[in-house]
Amino acid sequence: MEKLVSLCKRKGFIFQSSGIYGGINGCWDFGPLGVELKRNLKEHWWYTFVLSRDDMVGLDASIIMHPQVWVASGHVDEFHDILVDCKECKKRFRQDHIEGDRCPECGGELSEPRAFNSMLRTRMGVSEDTAVETYLRPETCQSIFVDFKEVCSSYRVKIPFGIAQIGKSFRNEVNPRNFIFRSREFEQMEIEFFCREEEAAAWFDRWRQEIWNWYRDIGLREENMRWYEHPKETLAHYSRRTVDVEYEFPFGWGELQGLANRGVYDLSQHSRHSGKDLSFFDVEKNERYVPTVIEPSAGADRTVLAILCDAYHEETVKDELRVVMRFAPKLAPIKAAVLPLVKKDGLAEIAVDLEKRLRRKFTTYYDHAGAIGRRYRRQDEIGTPFCICVDHQTKEDETVTVRHRDSMEQERVAMAEVDAYVLKRVSIRDVC
Ligand code: GAP
Repeated sequence: MEKLVSLCKRKGFIFQSSGIYGGINGCWDFGPLGVELKRNLKEHWWYTFVLSRDDMVGLDASIIMHPQVWVASGHVDEFHDILVDCKECKKRFRQDHIEGDRCPECGGELSEPRAFNSMLRTRMGVSEDTAVETYLRPETCQSIFVDFKEVCSSYRVKIPFGIAQIGKSFRNEVNPRNFIFRSREFEQMEIEFFCREEEAAAWFDRWRQEIWNWYRDIGLREENMRWYEHPKETLAHYSRRTVDVEYEFPFGWGELQGLANRGVYDLSQHSRHSGKDLSFFDVEKNERYVPTVIEPSAGADRTVLAILCDAYHEETVKDELRVVMRFAPKLAPIKAAVLPLVKKDGLAEIAVDLEKRLRRKFTTYYDHAGAIGRRYRRQDEIGTPFCICVDHQTKEDETVTVRHRDSMEQERVAMAEVDAYVLKRVSIRDVC
């Protein structure tokens, strides 16, 4: 984990937020490479679950919502962590994160447990007497339930169908930890899939398969993943059944995504609290009912962390350590580096022109500093799947070498065809 955190900082994937002020606990910034990796991940998710399906629509709702939303959803009453304080060192812990009845840091005596609401509060409004207290959303899905009626009446949908959303969520986590695994500000990728009660079990199984396939598709190795079924006693207040996909991080197994059967809980609650009917009218069956909800809920940041852990490889090549990030090419932040073999003999000019052409199609990087071997290693370390080298033969026959990150093998490709060659191998969408 230390090696990975250091590589992320050194290469500009992820660093602490507000670092020059000493940082702020539980908040992280994605640098030039991290932002591309995360964007690719979200685009891949959106493409898989929204654009390429005919039973899904998207939503991008506001982060701050009416405070009543969180009363209806149960968060005001139920979204609590149980805390204990150390009477000696004054540190605070989540009770379910510690073993035994002494402080895990200093062995001191612990206080009585007490409930702490994990929602981040804010005040909205310009004058003291009219400002309302509300929350930064702790999950993106509530806006999907609250907007259910708007979506149904404005867009032609029929059950079964889903509404998907990617966006920021906030939780005042007691102990943000393990790099970006548990943070206070993070992004979720959530789907609320509405179906008939009698079909819910079958949809649950189908979603289970879809989720697993997606993780395989983004390159996570199956041996590092497993399912965890929540026992009935520990289910969240809204859930009839929840299974999690877990990933084996260097610090142990951790939840990547939850799949829950939320029943009719949320739509019924919002109906009751808002006084608006949130049932669905099935024109074909001439029937009105509240649909059952199956919810796949994934964290984008946690998935980025799993991708980074899975991709990190060290190997010895010619007695030297090679660090290589084996990202799936469609997720890699930089798709191709363009490198002149040497800067002189007109090779740099050809490479610069080629890079300019390619950058309009996918992310590229131009580098002429240092020996070619060193430049290849720099690209391996950031997971660039292809290095395109302009050499003396390029001037003779207009071909370049394409070096593959994982095998380090090289092949000659016509310069005119190198765009299509790379694009075909790195595109998230199907390209013809
Ligand atoms: N709407 C259901 C829901 O929010 P959850 O299990 O609390 O369920 C879903 O959260 C996903 O969001 C988790 O599987 C995880 O990937 C991500 N997540 C939750 N809390 C997080 C945190 N503090 N930091 C990073 N990701 C988090």
